Order: sequence, then C-alpha cells, then structure tokens
Amino acid sequence: MPQCSRVVPGLLPEAGVSSRPPGRHLKLAVPALLTLVLLPGQVPTQGADAQSGHPLGLPAVVAPKDNPQTPAKIALGKQLYFDRRLSADNTVSCADCHNPAKGFSNGEQFATGIKGQKGGRNSPTVLNAAYQTFQFWDGRAGTLEQQALGPIANPIEMGLPLPEMEKRLNAIAGYKTQFQQVFGVAEIRASEVAKAIASYERTVLSGNSPYDRFQQGEVEALSEQAREGMKLFFGKANCAACHAGPNFTDNAFHNIGIGMDKPEPDVGREAISQLEGDRGSFKTPTVRDVARSAPYMHDGSLKTLAEVVEHYDKGGHANPWLDEELFPLKLTAAEKAALVKFLDEGLTSPATQDHAPPKLP
Ligand code: HEC
Ligand code: HEC
Repeated sequence: MPQCSRVVPGLLPEAGVSSRPPGRHLKLAVPALLTLVLLPGQVPTQGADAQSGHPLGLPAVVAPKDNPQTPAKIALGKQLYFDRRLSADNTVSCADCHNPAKGFSNGEQFATGIKGQKGGRNSPTVLNAAYQTFQFWDGRAGTLEQQALGPIANPIEMGLPLPEMEKRLNAIAGYKTQFQQVFGVAEIRASEVAKAIASYERTVLSGNSPYDRFQQGEVEALSEQAREGMKLFFGKANCAACHAGPNFTDNAFHNIGIGMDKPEPDVGREAISQLEGDRGSFKTPTVRDVARSAPYMHDGSLKTLAEVVEHYDKGGHANPWLDEELFPLKLTAAEKAALVKFLDEGLTSPATQDHAPPKLP
C-alpha cells in the first residue's frame, strides 16, 4: 500500500500489513505525502529553538519560504492565538475552540463562537496541522497562513472584520513593537498576523508517543493490549488504509458515512470540488492525541473512542458514496478494547510542550 512507509521508512510496524489490497481511493495520498517532504520552494524549519524542533516520529516541519520560523515570531503568534481581543466582543480566542487542555479542540460537539453561536462542525485539533496538505474538514484552505484569518472575520466565530482587527492591534503598543521587530513593518497588517499565528501553529506538534518509542525499539513502551491494538490498526481493522504515515492521515477525503442518515447531510468535500463522488467526504484527521479531543468526527456525533470503533466495526453507515475501504470488521469485544487501548495509550504524547497561555501585551 503506498503509505508513508515509502517516504519515511521504518515508521510502520512489521505487523503493519493491511489485510486489504490497495484501494483506488488512495489516488491523492502519494502526491500529498511527497509534497510534505519535497514541497518545492519551501525549506525545512531549522531548530530555531526547542519548540520548533520536531518530536520523535514526525518529520521536520516545513514552513513556507516567505514565512520562516523564528523564536520571536512564534512567541508573537502564540500571544495572538490566545488573545480574545481578536474577537468582536473580546470573548473568544483561537484557544477557546482549539484549547491545549482539550487536545487543541474544545471538548464540545460543535464550536462555540461569540455570543454563544454554534457552528455546524466540530473543532478539529490544531495539533500537527502543520503537516496537513489541506486545512478544514472539507480541505478548503491549504496553508495555515490561508486559514488563520478566516475564523477572526467569521461572524459566528470571532466576528471581527479584518480592518477593525488591524486598527485594534495597532493601538496596542506592545504588539506594535513586536511586529516592527519581527516583520520590520510600521503598521500591523492582517497578512503578518496570519504569518505569526501560522508560525506558532507549526510548533503545536504531537509525537514522541509510546507508539513512537516502540518503533524505536523500546518494546515496553506499549502494553501487551496496546500492541494487540496496533496490529489490528495496521491489519485486520484496516485503519491504516487512511490513517497512514507519520501523522496517521493520508491527507485525502473519504465518506465513512458520518451524518449521512440526516435529511440534509453535510456534503463535505463536494462543496469544494463540485464532484458528486466527494459527497459526504471529509478529510482524514490525525489520530495522534485523539484520546484528548473527544467528541469525534466532523459533526462531533461520536462521544468516545469505543463509539468510533463500533462505527467502523459495522462497516460505517451505508450510503451510495461510502468509501470502499469500509466494510464490516467482525471484531471481537477483546479486539475492540485493544484497538481503543492503542489509540488511547499508544498515540497519546507526553505533554512536554509549553502551551500555557502567554502574558499578553
Ligand atoms: C468558534 C470556534 C473557533 C474559533 C474561535 C477558531 N476556530 Fe479554528 N476551527 C473551528 C472549526 C469548527 C473548524 C473546522 C471548520 C470546518 O472544517 O469547516 C476549525 C478549523 C481550524 C483549522 C484547520 C484544522 C484542520 O485539521 O483542518 C485550523 C488550523 C484552525 N481552525 C486554527 C484556528 C486559529 C488559528 C484560530 C484563531 C485565529 C481559530 N482556529 C479560531 C473552530 C474555531
Ligand atoms: C476510508 C478511510 C478511513 C478508514 C479505513 C478509517 N478511517 Fe478513521 N477517519 C476517516 C475520516 C475521513 C474521518 C473523518 C470523517 C468525518 O468526520 O466524517 C475519520 C475519523 C476518525 C476518528 C475521529 C478523529 C477526530 O478527531 O474526530 C477516529 C478516532 C478514527 N477515524 C479512527 C479510525 C480507526 C480506529 C479506524 C480503523 C478501525 C479508522 N479510523 C479507519 C477515514 C478513515
């Protein structure tokens, strides 16, 4: 199967042989993964400080050429990420919907923006978003820079028009000085706000999990049950058909049947690609640190990892666009428990990075 093992050898366990032949749906996976490694015009992040080094099991983070990582820029981006003044009524920051204490999600079915407004989708984690080819459940943004300003201006998220945001930030002396130092600009502009936030996000990484240590030969890093679950993940349970490579995603879109029983289902990727074949398809999310970011799926409809495993065990939810890699798994109760154990114990990273709210100017 053309997984990331071709690109980054040794990341999949020896037992990682899928029980299924390669699926046609993987068409996107290989170019996407190669892009991650070889993206033209981009340079790998240098270990500018402890935070931009990449944890065990992950490749180097690639920052765009016009937005190299620097410690001062990362620190500035972190302040902006946590600053509620970037919302219309000063009540919501990025960190409220992508909270470090909740696996960089928000612990709720749907995101809650200013004035308690609820969107129709679950907050995805920001962890390892740096490695993604596509941002958002439907992949409508590519880079973190492109993504960052969307929620600020979005009326149901932070609701602050960008010219207003620029005005506000320019009135805060501490920010003005920092933007001058980091970007050499006299006036704070939205484009640099996006760059700073994206730089911080490139330090929000999840790796060095027990699974990664196991891969390095530390056999005891995983309990016997988690090892059993790992074999299932890469084998009989077929999870790695889509959750593949260092970040456990093929950077592609699939219909696994979530929400397809609704009268008017979220069409997902179809709205972007205009291809009917993409109906109900969503981006494969990473499953690193997934135990921290319940509830699950684009509509937050599954509350626990056990519910997720049940969903896959029954072969997803039947609909005309269901991915061919979903089929009844016929797992025993013990196998289901082992799979959950692998996701939980195996892929949860130690909280070694400092993501406490910073002091704001
Ligand atoms: C009101 C809650 C809310 C706020 C505030 C918010 N987000 Fe999000 N964020 C979401 C939701 C919901 C999505 C998914 C939307 C979709 O896919 O259509 C998302 C998607 C993302 C993604 C894409 C992740 C992925 O895997 O696709 C990134 C990155 C992100 N947000 C970063 C930010 C940043 C940076 C800020 C602050 C400038 C921010 N968000 C503010 C709710 C929020
Ligand atoms: C056909 C590709 C595919 C296969 C096979 C697959 N997944 Fe997924 N997975 C996805 C997609 C796509 C989503 C998001 C779907 C949505 O929100 O509608 C997802 C979502 C998830 C989530 C929720 C993550 C979050 O942050 O909300 C978990 C957990 C998960 N999968 C685990 C598994 C496990 C365990 C297996 C094996 C039993 C598996 N997946 C098999 C594609 C796949």
